[in-house]
Amino acid sequence: MEEIALHILDIVQNSIVACANLISIEVEEDYANDRLIIIIVDNGKGIEKHLLDKVADPFYTKRTTRKVGLGLSLLKQSAEMAGGSFSIESEINKGTTVKAIYQHSHIDRQPLGDIPQTISILVASNPDINFTYKHKINNNSYYFDTRQIKEVLEEVPITSPEVRVFIHQMLKQNIDMLNRQFKEI
Ligand SMILES: Nc1ncnc2c1ncn2[C@@H]1O[C@H](COP(=O)(O)OP(=O)(O)OP(=O)(O)O)[C@@H](O)[C@H]1O
Ligand SMILES: [Mg+2]
Repeated sequence: MEEIALHILDIVQNSIVACANLISIEVEEDYANDRLIIIIVDNGKGIEKHLLDKVADPFYTKRTTRKVGLGLSLLKQSAEMAGGSFSIESEINKGTTVKAIYQHSHIDRQPLGDIPQTISILVASNPDINFTYKHKINNNSYYFDTRQIKEVLEEVPITSPEVRVFIHQMLKQNIDMLNRQFKEI
């Protein structure tokens, strides 16, 4: 995987498979401490304690079609390659939290990639799952919750292409604004 946005897409698939109906994604760009932090929290079925240490091992998977599970181990590798770290916490029937920390300025840090595209696709293709997305750059942040969007949409399905384009633009504008605010300081 070349971009962090694609890791997010992949990690969220695990949450979807785990029957989560609420998934929170957070990207924090902390320039003061030179860190980029990705946190994905779900309320899915969770992972048993004895498996938790193994899930980020590239040879562990519950898949039957292929022996090697890749999602978590690739994220771990990408964080560690960029001077960072990876952690996963989980509780059965409560949910799972995956966290990856990168050194923001590290030469080997993968680019964030197209976050607005990733989030808008996830939202539009999973109408029964609620998502929250938070993007923080230093002390400024943007927060979005599909439950609020669904209220405003009323009859219009969240899966409609117009809504996906709307969410994409909304995210892009707000993240661009956070970046501009940061550069003005
Ligand atoms: N959010 C989650 N909730 C519950 N179980 C999870 C979650 N994330 C990962 N797991 C468990 O950890 C295993 C490893 O996940 P990982 O994403 O690394 O590989 P995979 O999903 O099995 O395969 P791949 O991602 O390559 O398609 C999964 O098979 C699943 O059992
Ligand atoms: Mg996976």
